[in-house]
Amino acid sequence: MEREIGFGVVGLGMGAHHAQAVHNAQGARLVAVCDMDERRLGRVASQYSVKAYRRYEDLLADPEVKVVNICTPSGTHTDMGVRAAEAGKHILVEKPPDVTVEKVDRLIDAVRRAGVKAGVTFQSRTFPLNRRIKAAVEEGRLGRLIGVNAWLPWWRSQSYYEGPHGSWKGTWALDGGGSLMNQGVHTVDLLQWIAGPVRSVMGRYGAFAHDIEAEDTTVAVLNFSCGAVGTLMTTTCAYPGLPQMVLFYGERGSILKEEDTLKVWRIRGEREEEEREMLELYGPRRREGPTTASDPMAVGSAGHQGLVEDMVRAIREGREPYITLESARHTVEIVTAIYESSRTGREVFL
Ligand SMILES: NC(=O)c1ccc[n+]([C@@H]2O[C@H](COP(=O)([O-])OP(=O)(O)OC[C@H]3O[C@@H](n4cnc5c(N)ncnc54)[C@H](O)[C@@H]3O)[C@@H](O)[C@H]2O)c1
Repeated sequence: MEREIGFGVVGLGMGAHHAQAVHNAQGARLVAVCDMDERRLGRVASQYSVKAYRRYEDLLADPEVKVVNICTPSGTHTDMGVRAAEAGKHILVEKPPDVTVEKVDRLIDAVRRAGVKAGVTFQSRTFPLNRRIKAAVEEGRLGRLIGVNAWLPWWRSQSYYEGPHGSWKGTWALDGGGSLMNQGVHTVDLLQWIAGPVRSVMGRYGAFAHDIEAEDTTVAVLNFSCGAVGTLMTTTCAYPGLPQMVLFYGERGSILKEEDTLKVWRIRGEREEEEREMLELYGPRRREGPTTASDPMAVGSAGHQGLVEDMVRAIREGREPYITLESARHTVEIVTAIYESSRTGREVFL
């Protein structure tokens, strides 16, 4: 049997989900966790009986750690990632890979120079329904794509932006923005992954219901290179937190989903049973408990586990991980362009 690959997780908010994902993943072994918050560190280390490091340099010096899961605030990812790459570690970095394109490029560069692997946690790309939608769009089954529309009417209380683990949220330096860069970045990634690239954007943002530096509501128009036009709305002001909606429509049909539930799959001239089959597979199901529309920690670890197992296989097979830094770069480019457009009042070309 092949030896398991050792993982170390830094940043134990979302990182607690990474620890669980590594623990459950095939071919991976959780070796150590790291956080400067002693309480979080002690809790996760004792839960999995693994080494606990307060200092990141000690995690990087551990020879058993081959992959570092970077789960610190978004604007620290490049610094943490460059240090990991220089220490010869592979990287699985939380979304967004960092908060500016320049920083993402610096990380890409460091990873190439070190010859290590780097994967990004845009886990929506691993969900079967999203992969089916991407295939349908790419195969041209909707005909020429016309509309790409998404809204994310989520809710976060003021306390989410406060306290020792909240005060970086909604700041430009560490969160890179607010509802768009933090909550909405998965949606932007999905749109660009399925229908991209995006050629130009126009945006407007503001902070309406929270005392934060950046924004809690953003709207944007996106012009895709394929000719489609898109609209996007992200907010953390919509009490109590309503489902994300995404609609793709083309000359021949429409696909509509609400969070991870398929609502409509209808393509003119194609088998009508297909919609029934797709709805059976991905349609409405009884759900219990909160979703990420109102609770950030409801994200779970299933998507992350798939990405951990993909990293293990990428290392063993000498191939790139499923979600590369290069493929995630455009997402950061779109988000920052929407912010720039909002500041300047001009259309921004990518
Ligand atoms: N993929 C997803 O669905 C998802 C969901 C939530 C958050 N995230 C991402 O995860 C990242 C973390 O978000 P969070 O909500 O868990 O934040 P958080 O503030 O709750 O946790 C970050 C942790 O990092 C620790 N930390 C910071 N700098 C450190 C350092 N130099 N050394 C050791 N520990 C350090 C902090 O003490 C803190 O415990 C962000 O980039 C966020 O965008 C992703």
